[in-house]
Amino acid sequence: MKIIAYGIRDDEKPYLDQWSKDKGIEVKAVAELLDESTVDQAKGYDGAVVYQQKPYTAEVLDKLASFGIKSLSLRNVGVDNVDADAIKRNDIKVTNVPAYSPNAIAELAATQLMRLLRRTNTFDCKIANGDLRWAPDIADELDQMTVGVIATGRIGRAAINIYKGFGAKIIAYDIFHNPELEKEGIYVDTLDELYAQADVISLHSPATKENEHMFNDEAFGKMKDGVFIINPARGALVDTDALIRALDSGKVAGAALDVYEDEVGIFNTDFGSFDAIPDERLKNLIKRENVLVTPHIAFFTKTAVKNMVQFALNSNVNLIEKGSDESQVKF
Ligand code: COI
Repeated sequence: MKIIAYGIRDDEKPYLDQWSKDKGIEVKAVAELLDESTVDQAKGYDGAVVYQQKPYTAEVLDKLASFGIKSLSLRNVGVDNVDADAIKRNDIKVTNVPAYSPNAIAELAATQLMRLLRRTNTFDCKIANGDLRWAPDIADELDQMTVGVIATGRIGRAAINIYKGFGAKIIAYDIFHNPELEKEGIYVDTLDELYAQADVISLHSPATKENEHMFNDEAFGKMKDGVFIINPARGALVDTDALIRALDSGKVAGAALDVYEDEVGIFNTDFGSFDAIPDERLKNLIKRENVLVTPHIAFFTKTAVKNMVQFALNSNVNLIEKGSDESQVKF
């Protein structure tokens, strides 16, 4: 059996090599992403292991299938960049890694929330300018606040556990109710109820066509004045222009964004200087003391990266050998 792995970064390579040695399976690591210009390299392999934010296009998927590659394993959780029609048409089996480390995401969400509440960004700027005064930057305490968690999958539940540890009151919204959380009575029936009650809203939902820009002017209008927004999920969930308006009006008191709707090609790139970042809206957000932008780093922990590589390889072997895997994605 031979597997090709695309988009392999330096931080992933040791975990890939270790897996290959332990399993005695040949894995060709390619640094380039899977696209029209690199897909031919997959000829002769039994399966492909991939991670990228750019689209897996119909043309690329058709070609993979024409090479007989019907086993595609993503090293991440989100599948919103996969052409679903091409997957179905070619009968390609796809796996993701749904739980490489829910805590990695939840810990960043909580870290950034606490930074917002304790105004650390503002104090860092003040201190750098020799201003060691307290006022007017008085903080809020999480144990006095209600956190509304949207989507209670593994990541949402990990976030709930951490927020609970700080003593916050938790409410949650999801179409599917987790039985344990249901017993605790934390679910509200509608997003409107969550918007009306939450001091902090923590987003943990995948991106779908239906929830694109779910945080738009109308949704912000239903939220409490001074709400804090935490988004380590997907940029497409938030209408950036509406968020900027809500920050300007004070409706939103602070936002922690690990994702951004136009992040592809921008995040994980070194532009050399702040001015050279080619996105004015993003710079508008970054410049604000009450907005914390991170370049999609929530997943970037040693545990998560190791699991992403090794779980995806294991799934790919299962697809090749058995034609199925427990992490198979339904399209
Ligand atoms: C995902 O797993 O879908 C993520 O968002 C993390 C990715 C940037 C590696």
